[in-house]
Amino acid sequence: MPRDLGFIYEFVPAGTPDTPVTLLLLHGTGGNEQDLLPIGKELCPDAALLSPRGKVLENGMPRFFRRVAEGVFDEEDLKFRAHELAEFVRSAAQQYGLQDKKFIAVGYSNGANIASGLLLLHPHLLSGAILFRPMVPFTMSFLPDLKQAHVLLASGKGDPIASPEQNQKLAAMLSMAGADVSVYWHDGGHELGRDDLQAARSWLSQNVLNALPPPRTTPPSGQ
Ligand code: MLT
Repeated sequence: MPRDLGFIYEFVPAGTPDTPVTLLLLHGTGGNEQDLLPIGKELCPDAALLSPRGKVLENGMPRFFRRVAEGVFDEEDLKFRAHELAEFVRSAAQQYGLQDKKFIAVGYSNGANIASGLLLLHPHLLSGAILFRPMVPFTMSFLPDLKQAHVLLASGKGDPIASPEQNQKLAAMLSMAGADVSVYWHDGGHELGRDDLQAARSWLSQNVLNALPPPRTTPPSGQ
């Protein structure tokens, strides 16, 4: 029985103990902790998956922070919720022995927006993020140092919610902070397509998994 870490969540242990990454799965508005588990498995079959449910309810729909209107965020709440989520990730890492793993956030829509908030407010918590249909969470007068972070933005060319301008602003902001930023453009709108997942999977293996040192191998006993 998982300890109460302040969130309703799912945890799926890594397929092999050597797997260097843990995926932090962050659903969109109206989703829950189950939504992105199949996507996490598809992106990195051996990774541990940590998938919390957003604690804010909007007309009964879970979200990760409050908004005033479509596309207008309650920035104070967003920052408060990002700190709360960072605390959850640290406690879960301790509870499941994941302190030496690289945490990569995988967020869709509202989940991508809280993931950007986490990157900007807790620059050492995540090694990177896959942001599906992201927006700028808030502006900052001083950007953190994100040189160790790899970020993929996957945006829809015709997305009426997370517009291409929002993608470009966020990509510029993260690049200015030093992050290694890649952008994938999907031909449709806000919904995810198979192509988004393929792009994310190959980005993850090229930019994160292959860039990590090989796992330490235990010498055979007797040597
Ligand atoms: C948000 O509120 O985070 C964005 O508008 C995306 C959404 O959840 O619709």
